[in-house]
Amino acid sequence: MNKALRPAVIAGNWKMNKTPEETGALIKEIAPLTENAACEVVVCVPFVDLHAALTATGGTSIKVGAQNCHFEASGAFTGEISAPMLKSIGVEYVIIGHSERRAYFGETDITVQKRTRAALDAGLTVIVCVGETLEQREQGITRELCALQSKIALQGVKSDELGRIVIAYEPVWAIGTGRTATADQAEEVCGWIRDTLAELYGRESADGVSIQYGGSMNAANAYELLSKPNVDGGLIGGASLKAKDFAEIVKATNR
Ligand code: 13P
Repeated sequence: MNKALRPAVIAGNWKMNKTPEETGALIKEIAPLTENAACEVVVCVPFVDLHAALTATGGTSIKVGAQNCHFEASGAFTGEISAPMLKSIGVEYVIIGHSERRAYFGETDITVQKRTRAALDAGLTVIVCVGETLEQREQGITRELCALQSKIALQGVKSDELGRIVIAYEPVWAIGTGRTATADQAEEVCGWIRDTLAELYGRESADGVSIQYGGSMNAANAYELLSKPNVDGGLIGGASLKAKDFAEIVKATNR
């Protein structure tokens, strides 16, 4: 297992927070603190903030991501944004299948698969989210569930596209609850997800995919989580809205 084979990606998922003006200000705070990052740094902001984020990250190495995209390129889909639209303005990343979208907006494994395909076709890098609820963990089906979510999301994804896939393991019970998975729990599931990737694409390709942990990751617990062999990066909610905390997590990837 060699972490050097894959880039560490620390991505902030700002969720439904910040106006364009606040976006510019927060990125201006984050940029100098993450200047010499040993990892890829991404901020995934609300659609209306993308322009401000792209402007504020100009001249820095911070990448900009969206938090969702539709699976059609254009058409009669009121209120939706397509992957080619995101690509056209300079967005590089998109989060797909976040558990909040699955829980509140009817996202299913199938729509996750379609959105992932559309995002790859548009040239974006996709952060595919998988993870179990507390009930599913207690039932002992975490491994099968994460394998199934990963396999469906990746249906039709070719091995030469894996460089633009990041998997985020986000246990639903750890999101926004302050209850982080232990480093051992995160490592165990990230390892299972890598085994699933190996089953689909072979071990060498699987070893090249960056896997994130997400769920109450913060400046205090990031070092231990990111020291695990299969935990390459993080998808950060609350702590990504505080420049110093986010920068501290970025520093924790320094290995
Ligand atoms: P928190 O870091 O706020 O728990 O959110 C995690 C998350 O959902 C990132 O996508």
